[in-house]
Amino acid sequence: MDFRSFLCCTKPSDRKEKGKKEITWRIFSLKELHAATNNFNYDNKLGEGGFGSVYWGQLWDGSQIAVKRLKVWSNKADMEFAVEIEILARVRHKNLLSLRGYCAEGQERLIVYDYMPNLSLLSHLHGQSSSESTLDWPRRMAIAIGSAEGIAYLHHHATPHIIHRNIKANNVLLDEDFKPLVADFSFAKLMPDGATHVTTRVKGTLGYMAPEYAALGKASESCDVYSFGILLLELASGKKPIEKINSTSTRSIKEWALPLVYARKFSEIADPKMNGTYVEEELKRVIFVGLICAHDQPEKRLTILEVVELLKGELKEKFVAIESDEMFVTGRSADCNDEASVADNSSGFISEDKQEQVQEIEKAA
Ligand SMILES: Nc1ncnc2c1ncn2[C@@H]1O[C@H](COP(=O)(O)OP(=O)(O)OP(=O)(O)O)[C@@H](O)[C@H]1O
Ligand SMILES: [Mg+2]
Repeated sequence: MDFRSFLCCTKPSDRKEKGKKEITWRIFSLKELHAATNNFNYDNKLGEGGFGSVYWGQLWDGSQIAVKRLKVWSNKADMEFAVEIEILARVRHKNLLSLRGYCAEGQERLIVYDYMPNLSLLSHLHGQSSSESTLDWPRRMAIAIGSAEGIAYLHHHATPHIIHRNIKANNVLLDEDFKPLVADFSFAKLMPDGATHVTTRVKGTLGYMAPEYAALGKASESCDVYSFGILLLELASGKKPIEKINSTSTRSIKEWALPLVYARKFSEIADPKMNGTYVEEELKRVIFVGLICAHDQPEKRLTILEVVELLKGELKEKFVAIESDEMFVTGRSADCNDEASVADNSSGFISEDKQEQVQEIEKAA
């Protein structure tokens, strides 16, 4: 099956905005991408994810690109590639990493993006840049609000609405000014008009997956909100979504944070790398909003539009109601029954191949 048959509406376009033409993306030749990445040289490799490897490159005009190269071609991978291109070509928002172009020659499938010089949020929280304390509190707040705005565009403004399904610190990239751009749409789903959820094969990353999605494959906007809640806790604390506490057990970031919230010990949640330099009111906001977003019961979670407003310090009455939610006043840790306890691999990545036996049933509720 040829992926081009899926790209019905996806043509390189000259968008006319207020009289001026804006070229959005184009098709690249394999030869051009070989030249840009020094033949996909190992030294150019930025990392590897579910889709394949990502390489840094430079085009003839001097602009820097990131090229994602599909690992192994298959009909299914080709379909996913088409979905990502189709979705990327639709979205345009200051906090979403948009498509620069793609290449499909023979069995090669490549996606071209702008290179983000500050890499991913993950690399600053836990990776190679984490020791450099590049993430002060104002930057963390701007990252929280900007990425929530990017997701709000997907959930509420894109037509049809889009669920991302892979919100995590690796997929929030940072430009030269540390502006966040939510990336990676290969798992994304277009929501049929009026649907509350779609039932689908489970793909995602352990530690970020809402329980109803991990267990039943029920994907909805509120699953992205759950993942975003985990990301907020990570941003405030510098902790990973799941930590190994000894050779046999793990603990989720929620299980760790909730007792500290019962005791109102917010300073113990704050990332020590900030050396106490944060705005206490904002820190509290990020923690409460993060935890309520990551509630096990989907109906208790916020919408991402509410998240944006709350993070900006608006919806004050709503915030008071959240602070006094039973989740934060009882000592009962009933909300910690998440998928951390079933973490059984170190990467935490659930690929579709491991879920082959789960039949995909796509239906609008
Ligand atoms: N446009 C980009 N600019 C700079 N670095 C990038 C860009 N796109 C991806 N990367 C880096 O490449 C690496 C691999 O990214 P990739 O998206 O393939 O994997 P991932 O985000 O770890 O997992 P997943 O496949 O679930 O998204 C990551 O470290 C990411 O920071
Ligand atoms: Mg990614």
